[in-house]
Amino acid sequence: MTEFVTFQGDALARLAELPSDHYDAVITDPPYSSGGTFRSDRQQATGQKYTQTGEKKNPFSDFPGDNRDGRSFLYWMTLVLSETYRVTKNGGTIALFTDWRQLPTVSDALQAAGFVWRGVYVWDKTLAARPRKGYFRQQAEFVVWGSKGPLPAKPDLPALPGLTTCSVNKGGRFHQTGKPVELMKAIVQVCPEGGTVLDPFMGSGSTGVACGELGRKFHGIEYTEHYHEVARERLAETFQ
Ligand SMILES: C[S@@+](CC[C@H](N)C(=O)[O-])C[C@H]1O[C@@H](n2cnc3c(N)ncnc32)[C@H](O)[C@@H]1O
Repeated sequence: MTEFVTFQGDALARLAELPSDHYDAVITDPPYSSGGTFRSDRQQATGQKYTQTGEKKNPFSDFPGDNRDGRSFLYWMTLVLSETYRVTKNGGTIALFTDWRQLPTVSDALQAAGFVWRGVYVWDKTLAARPRKGYFRQQAEFVVWGSKGPLPAKPDLPALPGLTTCSVNKGGRFHQTGKPVELMKAIVQVCPEGGTVLDPFMGSGSTGVACGELGRKFHGIEYTEHYHEVARERLAETFQ
């Protein structure tokens, strides 16, 4: 099966070229524009931001788009999600990664774009996650999810779990902030078998690899040439 298509370029520009009412699900992990309490933290290179104290610098390529302030992030995310809304089928789902700082902004943008907000899926990153002595570990990231209009009933399908527990390094790393394929396989099940998933910020293509392994078609967009190439290699291997 060779049912994947990738586009290199800016998500907003590429989304504008895609057909309306086409995708069964949009599952994506955009730059969080988070990673710190202060403006100076947010403006660091991604390799700096996403390297834990005492750890060697993250060996993967830096990526753009991760340093917007709160207002510009909300505005930009609303523009991207509005185009995403247009290309999603009626009754299709959206699932969007974020962290605890940006959770309120992302759920606002999702609703401003027209989606119905349905809930928050939890990725439990296990005790391998960022520790803070005497305080709570930053152990979870979140997937804000929703739908374009009412959710169609699926009486013949089992209910999906509302969280996945899986360490960030499970299954190998291909991107500075790459998501494990095991996690993505749990999430792409929201797309009907044989349906098509779009990821407008695909990075190294983990969403697509999960689709290939579970019989979903995949379309992905990535801004950098580097990660676009990494994704193409992984996808070509998966969708043979
Ligand atoms: C958080 S990463 C996605 C990682 C991916 N989930 C994986 O497992 O490899 C976000 C990606 O969005 C890309 N990106 C940033 N700005 C973009 C834009 N305007 N359009 C498309 N992609 C963009 C970055 O280069 C980065 O690879």
